[in-house]
Amino acid sequence: MELDGARVLVAGASGVLGAAIAQALQGRGARLVLAGRDASRLDAVGLDAPALVFDALDLERCAAVVDEAADLLGGLDVLVVAFGIAAFGPAEQAGDLVTEQLLTVNTMAPMAMVRAAVPRLEGDGTVAVLSAILADHPTGGMAAYTASKAGLSAWLTALRQEQRRAGVTVFDVRPPHIETGLADRAVEGTAPSMTAGATVDELVALVVDGIRDGRRELRYDLRERAFTGR
Ligand SMILES: NC(=O)c1ccc[n+]([C@@H]2O[C@H](COP(=O)([O-])OP(=O)(O)OC[C@H]3O[C@@H](n4cnc5c(N)ncnc54)[C@H](OP(=O)(O)O)[C@@H]3O)[C@@H](O)[C@H]2O)c1
Repeated sequence: MELDGARVLVAGASGVLGAAIAQALQGRGARLVLAGRDASRLDAVGLDAPALVFDALDLERCAAVVDEAADLLGGLDVLVVAFGIAAFGPAEQAGDLVTEQLLTVNTMAPMAMVRAAVPRLEGDGTVAVLSAILADHPTGGMAAYTASKAGLSAWLTALRQEQRRAGVTVFDVRPPHIETGLADRAVEGTAPSMTAGATVDELVALVVDGIRDGRRELRYDLRERAFTGR
């Protein structure tokens, strides 16, 4: 994909990874619409791009934001999904409310956005979605967070099969722990001490190059302590 001039919606652009991906894409000449749940935090990203507000708990709004972005841009070439939440603690202690929040924000909302994006990509283009290493390595102490990301990743794999002929590239990004403060903003529980597997800059470069190169997966090999993918 030619990034120069590409029409891109970055959902979750107020987050650390979303903002950095948006900045890098704009640096490569992409035309952006930013989306997030707080207009002032989107403004603080400091990019000259239209901003749309949505809450991932409102699934209808998630789909509407994609349509509004495509209308603003005169079409859509790339959807980046970079929003999400974490929660920690023993599986049996996670209540239904927190579990529902995780599954809605991390699984159903990205699915709603991608479903809305596929027809707007017109058989071409890319959806790049941040799931997590947890999809490959389910982890105790974060069972519901794991389930939300594993569900999202499995859905993306199935979608990729469906889209093989249609032509939309489905890029599942499964990063290791990265120091962004996400764990400190957990909706429940306290994160265990975790070693960062990568930096924000490393991940952003791989995501942006991956979109350009039509990559389908970015995984992290814990033994090699390195990214792999195809
Ligand atoms: N950092 C890591 O170690 C790591 C590892 C693997 C995967 N990931 C994934 O990467 C993504 C980005 O994480 P990050 O590290 O950049 O964390 P972050 O800085 O906390 O960003 C999270 C983003 O999600 C948004 N968000 C949260 N709840 C929302 C809601 N209900 N509606 C709309 N937006 C909502 C936040 O909006 P506000 O700005 O309004 O809060 C923010 O833009 C997440 O999906 C995360 O699971 C991160």
